[in-house]
Amino acid sequence: MSTNATVEKIVSLCKRRGFVFQSSEIYGGIGGFWDYGPLGVELKNNIKRAWWKAVVQERDDMVGLDAAIVMNPTVWKASGHLDTFADPMVDCKECKRRFRADELAHQAPASAHGHAAEAPVVRCPECGGELTEPRMFNLMFRTYVGPVEDDASVAYLRPETAQGMFVNFSNVLQTTRKKLPFGMAQIGKAFRNEITPGNFIFRDREFEQMEIEYFVKPGTDEEWHQHWVEERHRWYLNLGLSPERLRVRRLDREELAHYAKDTYEVEYLFPMGWSELEGIANRTDFDLGRHAEFAGRVLEYFDEETGEHVVPYVIEPSSGVDRLFMAFLMDSYDEEEVRNETRAILRLHKDLAPTKVAVLPLSRNEQLVPPAREVWALLRPHWMTQFDDAQSIGRRYRRQDEVGTPYCVTVDFDTLTDQAVTIRERDSMEQVRVPIANLVAALREKLEG
Ligand code: GAP
Repeated sequence: MSTNATVEKIVSLCKRRGFVFQSSEIYGGIGGFWDYGPLGVELKNNIKRAWWKAVVQERDDMVGLDAAIVMNPTVWKASGHLDTFADPMVDCKECKRRFRADELAHQAPASAHGHAAEAPVVRCPECGGELTEPRMFNLMFRTYVGPVEDDASVAYLRPETAQGMFVNFSNVLQTTRKKLPFGMAQIGKAFRNEITPGNFIFRDREFEQMEIEYFVKPGTDEEWHQHWVEERHRWYLNLGLSPERLRVRRLDREELAHYAKDTYEVEYLFPMGWSELEGIANRTDFDLGRHAEFAGRVLEYFDEETGEHVVPYVIEPSSGVDRLFMAFLMDSYDEEEVRNETRAILRLHKDLAPTKVAVLPLSRNEQLVPPAREVWALLRPHWMTQFDDAQSIGRRYRRQDEVGTPYCVTVDFDTLTDQAVTIRERDSMEQVRVPIANLVAALREKLEG
């Protein structure tokens, strides 16, 4: 992250250029919910695609899943969420604001997994008023399934995608005939009624997770835990996050969730401090054991080599798309002086950039626009592209720099005679002339080579 990036600048850029909007903004919004605009949805899709490619497509031991958001409520009894997925909440008796007691005490884990922190004697940070005693507040959103709203029809929006993978363990094992170790990956929405959503899209009430449940033989779990910590750390570095702003931290005992034997976090240095992007937990056989108990099913793996039935241990790398979105934006944002002007630029990795190529006629001259549109049509089947002919060429380059477009293709008067165009590179601003006949191949080499 350049020292120029502030949360305020990123929020403003996101709104101005169509990355992120407040949900239902025309009605005053709703706290903890966000909409992703035309560029935001591209960046989000690219983050998810890069993750899926690395953890499913390129591996021979992983398969995908897309489970339902609403599940049988017993799932949440078995997982422990009904009993322990709660944060301690306090209210200010004066201004009526609501806070997480553990955050006020500066001992906040980033997520709620039943840390029943005692409220220390502190005052309201807003008005200095007296606070209530802490009450535990379950973060799961409740709903009713079917037309009758009674206790029998209560269901929950999932607070993590993980449980969909545990309850499908036998289905996936039988249909894929995978051998241990193997894993499942899932991307999907999760919902938590956070007491204090905030820091832009860092802590939301509706967000998207990318989770892996990797099943291993008991006894090999610690080795596989290290494997996944290294894999996942490398993934962030490969996508260009600054090494000095990325760290892996092993959690202290008292920070561990109720199901975890050991957990590492991949953390990013945001302006508000080191914060979790991903947790990589050793969940042991906790979840399969609990679901076997509550469902009355055998959730085991038969090891043909030893003739033994085992309940696999699970390594779980679990990350949030929205947090990664914010980290990639903050990290890639830069400002530099070019010809006495400040150039704002997103130095996003090419794989993540929402638009790969922008086609720009030098001006709106009637001789230039038709061939420029032809060049645009040539590129559209291959990549996400934009066409822009409004205002000066310098301004249009700046507009593309600001949203991270790696290449601009300019059609000028020479194009009319030499059938060539100029490719301008975002970071170096270097320009090369390329025949239109070679343009797709040249861009492919640059973007995918
Ligand atoms: N299945 C394990 C699990 O859900 P978690 O640490 O609670 O673990 C995993 O969440 C990831 O999900 C976090 O590292 C974070 O990236 C993302 N996440 C969790 N709560 C979030 C929230 N309220 N808003 C945005 N992302 C969140």
